[in-house]
Amino acid sequence: MPDGTRQTADGPTGFDHVLQCALARRQFLGAAVSMGAAAFVLGVGGFVPRARAAAPVFDFSPVPANSLDTVTVPAGYTWRIVARWGDPLWSSGQAFDPESGGTAKSQRLAFGDNNDGMALFSDGTRTVLAVNNEYVNRATLFGNRPEARPETEDDIRKAMAGHGISIVQIGEKSGHWILERDQPLNRRITAETPMRIAGPARGHAWLRTAADPNAEQVLGTLNNCGAGRTPWGTYLTCEENFNGYFTSSDPDFVIDDAKKRYGIRDRDWGYGFARADERFDIAKHPNEANRFGYVVEIDPFDPESMPVKRTALGRFKHENAEVVVNGSGRVVVYMGDDERGEFLYRYVSNGTYSGGRDGGDLLDNGTLYAAKFNEDLTGTWLALTPETTAMADAEIRILSRFAASRAGATTMDRPEWVAAHPDKAELYCALTNNRDRGKKANAGGDAMPASGPNPRAENLYGQVVRWRPDGGDHAADTFTWDLFCVAGNPAVHKGAYSGSDNIDPDNMFNAPDGLGFDSRGRLWIQTDGNDSNRKDFAGMGNNQMLVGDPLSGDIRRFMVGPRGCEITGLCWDADYTTMFVGIQHPGEKRSSHFPDGGDSVPRSCVIAVTRDDGATVG
Ligand code: FEO
Ligand code: CA
Ligand code: CA
Ligand code: CA
Repeated sequence: MPDGTRQTADGPTGFDHVLQCALARRQFLGAAVSMGAAAFVLGVGGFVPRARAAAPVFDFSPVPANSLDTVTVPAGYTWRIVARWGDPLWSSGQAFDPESGGTAKSQRLAFGDNNDGMALFSDGTRTVLAVNNEYVNRATLFGNRPEARPETEDDIRKAMAGHGISIVQIGEKSGHWILERDQPLNRRITAETPMRIAGPARGHAWLRTAADPNAEQVLGTLNNCGAGRTPWGTYLTCEENFNGYFTSSDPDFVIDDAKKRYGIRDRDWGYGFARADERFDIAKHPNEANRFGYVVEIDPFDPESMPVKRTALGRFKHENAEVVVNGSGRVVVYMGDDERGEFLYRYVSNGTYSGGRDGGDLLDNGTLYAAKFNEDLTGTWLALTPETTAMADAEIRILSRFAASRAGATTMDRPEWVAAHPDKAELYCALTNNRDRGKKANAGGDAMPASGPNPRAENLYGQVVRWRPDGGDHAADTFTWDLFCVAGNPAVHKGAYSGSDNIDPDNMFNAPDGLGFDSRGRLWIQTDGNDSNRKDFAGMGNNQMLVGDPLSGDIRRFMVGPRGCEITGLCWDADYTTMFVGIQHPGEKRSSHFPDGGDSVPRSCVIAVTRDDGATVG
């Protein structure tokens, strides 16, 4: 979503904190060396470990920043469209109508809007891409309405159908992946699709509604942002800004602290859902909003299966869900809550996974934790239990933000995606930015001092924090951490806003968001930031995708997106010769005609990037 990052940076920089953090790093690095890890030396700014003899990991020429209305990839690479908003998944659907943006009926049969996180699944014969459709761009979805707002019930239902998940079978034609219409696995999941409630909050009084008095089944999933995949082959889709769909018809309705903490107000963000379906009216159905904000599990190979809201993984503005299995088989899920001053979470299953296609109750029975980062580069996972929070277990899962506040977790600079290194227990989380850092408390009243992994006041640019579980065990309750990179603009600023050593005028960016590792252990970084290319952001151009080397800290720009877009969503085909990347909301703030050119309406899309020599792209 647009994040309202401010344009200038005249306030305090928190530079002292940055220096302190840099100095503190020496202990972390010393420990790393003594443990026999790669030989680190301090970068000049002190943030980033440098390998003494890094292997060449970049086999492309970096792409310069630009403000073009197209995708730019390195020489020797090609991009192609795989699926666009409005592309029919069945031949019974209608061709995309750029004038009207379609109807509810056409949208239910077509690829959704604003594609975000995604994952690719293959069973050996079929390849399927599961793609989140986070929200809708009203300016294009309602391009036929003068106010760019829904006017009819069909308009609202069209918006509901533009949300959710698009599951599409893809196939190779002339060596390129294309969307295949009419395939049996093609499926649309929307804001109206029935889904089962599972885990500790199932049946709880706070989830009961007139339509579902036993709190067992919800209609729909909303604002599906990042994603994940389980070892048993299912897709995880994560509900983020669900608050924006709820409204109150009663001006005297009192919005309690629980709703306020999650950003629910008496007015929605212009979607008008409550006009078509009164469950979005909090004055009439105050519990409906408690049924959103979860991680939802979907079996992409069973189009008849009912999605499941896994309440054990907590309720907050979920970004992605990075799933790993520890040495003893416990399923561990790392998750960010993207709000200024909210928290980083971990879930550890009670049971263990020993292979196969059935996850059983592994995502229903387990402990939720929130991260506490210490200034000395150590950290602790705080278990959120009735003992530590004075809340019942179901309450912890429904009002997880309150539980983490009570346990004393560290307020973070908007945690976006978490990515796990494929070869070792090492995690990375994009902290996208936080204009309130050092200025005010979070929505729960927890302080947000510039400190620890959030070292800069009025953090315009964001950073990537990295941590290593003690003993290499994802279920361990302690870890050590450092900052992989601190974004900034060294062409405009000196000091903290210039960023860490591995940021220079040729690779600078702002607002890291999507993260993912490739098969070679390289970290891909996608941005959702200010693309004005002016003032604090001069020289950064459009939103982009970079790739970093975890060992050396080197970062190179691989892709620049079209105007007004965010780059979000990343996965590969089985042999890593195609990289799928999401181009979300081109034209959101800047004029765009991507991808069809001319005077066409901009359309979010998934693109495939390949190397012209057929070699791997990751
Ligand atoms: Fe949907 Fe925080 O990004
Ligand atoms: Ca987004
Ligand atoms: Ca995001
Ligand atoms: Ca973002």
